[in-house]
Amino acid sequence: MRTYLVTGGAGFIGSNYIHYMFKKYDNEIRIINVDKLTYAGNLENLKDVENRDNYTFVKADICDKEAIRKVFAENDIDRVVHFAAESHVDRSIKNPEVFVQTNVLGTAVMLNCAKEAWELPDGTFKEGKKFLHVSTDEVYGSLPDDDNAFFYETSPYDPHSPYSASKASSDMLVKAYMDTYKFPANITNCSNNYGPYQFPEKLIPLIINNALQGKDLPVYGDGKNVRDWLYVEDHAKGIDMVQEQGKLFETYNIGGHNEKQNIQIIHIILDTLQEMLPEGDPRKELVSEKLIKYVTDRKGHDRRYAIAPDKIKADIGWYPETCFEEGIKKTIAWFFENEEWMKNVTSGDYQKYYTDMYSNK
Ligand code: NAD
Ligand code: DAU
Repeated sequence: MRTYLVTGGAGFIGSNYIHYMFKKYDNEIRIINVDKLTYAGNLENLKDVENRDNYTFVKADICDKEAIRKVFAENDIDRVVHFAAESHVDRSIKNPEVFVQTNVLGTAVMLNCAKEAWELPDGTFKEGKKFLHVSTDEVYGSLPDDDNAFFYETSPYDPHSPYSASKASSDMLVKAYMDTYKFPANITNCSNNYGPYQFPEKLIPLIINNALQGKDLPVYGDGKNVRDWLYVEDHAKGIDMVQEQGKLFETYNIGGHNEKQNIQIIHIILDTLQEMLPEGDPRKELVSEKLIKYVTDRKGHDRRYAIAPDKIKADIGWYPETCFEEGIKKTIAWFFENEEWMKNVTSGDYQKYYTDMYSNK
């Protein structure tokens, strides 16, 4: 049975990936989820799988070399899928240091421990071992408006925020391991994800949550910054396909071919909420364009991101399956069905219950 070590599996994309993998492989695989449970880690995201015999949760910091070494020593890990990171740009502007700590040093620890566990005496690596580093399109910097340019795997790195600079550094470390040691790895650089379990500090869940409560909808700057949105399950599928069918040492860009201005996203969410809320629901009165508030722009705000997922399509056959209209309906339906999840996250209860539960393990 193949064993996966997933880092950051209690976060947004990591938990969706774990669900995707169990849905696809069921009992054919084993997953060990290593997560520090920062504010972004929520074990409620994994309630459905926590009692499986082939799932283990380990509360650990990826910067803790001994803890990570122990996971490798006690388990014959075949695949690492490395999600764990500080992921929010606004937080990186306020407090960059933790981004360097987790995203750069944490990735160095993960690489080193995997290398130690997988390297043979002759400097080659055990058969079939693979490390996938999950990264972002933000490493490529910012594109101007309306010039039809895209980010390719060959685009130069040009990060602007402390977050993207730390992710770029972590990518460089993975590249260095591949070049120096022929360490068996891949990098994926993905565009903006949305879907179930996304923490409501990010644009889409924040707008859904605020609109349903009649709270302000903050739009940074002129609202015309463009992001390329991808439904999270499509990302999870892409990661699995890269690990199984991708060529070792290659980077693959993953994107939705779905560029939208932030203000367009907000209007789509408001319209979709109106369409999906039943007649007589009091929230129908609250959801309104009047809630839109233009606020001070994010410092160093990248203007436009746009991924060209041509290589992953040509080499592996992956493409974004979920169009935005369908994805946003699925996301809103999930938030309607999981009001308790949102209440626990916004009240902070999710952290207390689960960190107490695992603090002694
Ligand atoms: P998230 O913030 O929702 O989750 C991050 C997870 O990592 C949390 O569970 C957190 O507890 C854990 N974590 C943080 N620091 C840790 C540490 N020191 N040790 C162990 N665990 C730690 O993030 P996300 O949005 O799910 O992003 C996951 C990965 O995907 C990140 O590497 C991010 O850079 C990348 N990415 C995200 C997006 C996106 O749109 N969200 C797009 C492209 C790439
Ligand atoms: O592109 C991939 C990246 O997408 C990931 O690497 C990051 O981890 C992820 O957080 C995301 O970064 P962004 O900065 O693009 O996402 P965010 O949801 O924070 O913001 C999306 C856009 O919306 C951005 O242009 C800023 C704007 N925004 C955001 C918030 C939270 C607003 O206008 N108002 C807001 O309140």
